[in-house]
Amino acid sequence: MQPNGTAGQPTDRPIRSVGVIFAMEAEGASVADTIGLGPPEPLHENLPMRIRRGRLDDLEVTMAFNGIDSDHQVDRIGTEAATLTTWMLLQQQRIDLLVNAGTCGGFQAREGHVGKVYMAGYGLYFHDHRVNIDGFREYAEGPIMLSHGSVLAGELGLDSGPVSTGCSLDVTPAEIRFFQERGVIAKDMEAAAIARVARDMGIPCIAVKSVTDIVDSDKPTHEEFLRNLARAVDRLDEVVISLLRLLAEGRTLDRI
Ligand code: ADE
Repeated sequence: MQPNGTAGQPTDRPIRSVGVIFAMEAEGASVADTIGLGPPEPLHENLPMRIRRGRLDDLEVTMAFNGIDSDHQVDRIGTEAATLTTWMLLQQQRIDLLVNAGTCGGFQAREGHVGKVYMAGYGLYFHDHRVNIDGFREYAEGPIMLSHGSVLAGELGLDSGPVSTGCSLDVTPAEIRFFQERGVIAKDMEAAAIARVARDMGIPCIAVKSVTDIVDSDKPTHEEFLRNLARAVDRLDEVVISLLRLLAEGRTLDRI
């Protein structure tokens, strides 16, 4: 049996096909329109996940969205939907590089501000998976190590560092300590879940995250998120388009 991860892949492998996963329609619909991707198609007849496909020059681009929950009419944010979207996308499409693009909470202690876009670097954690048993603790909280993204971060002028994923928008005091101890620069709800599936499937994965709210401030997170979403998405769109243009120039795995 092959070990999971991407370590065994040839470093000069060309990237011809990129998958971009967004949790929310609002995070990715405008960039999909700008690139001229096709209309939404279901990933599965029973599930809300949708893809939009097209090309940027010679680069095949597939954007995937977690879709709208039919009971509550909101986007299916969070790790469960992200895992399922990633699995279905990688099963159904030939993808050379997976990108998770979305919004995040930033940290003023690490110079975060609304609209700042980060590239995940070093590794991805789960900050709300607490299992105090040796072995399970490390499995539960990560990090899931990242092998790619540093070259692109440099070219795009993005700061890079650990990102941590959980299923809540707000934070507990224990989670604040978790972020401080690990130097987390961005808190989101999907990246680590996506990276874990990508790693199992041997597909290289990177994540770009745009700040909507500041975790270590006293402003209510949900109010800041809603107030700043459009601004953060505008910045995210610019970065995603620049990233895809760099990939469309013709990149190999060792040059991302
Ligand atoms: N997405 C945007 N802001 C977030 C936050 N504070 N926590 C988790 N996901 C987010």
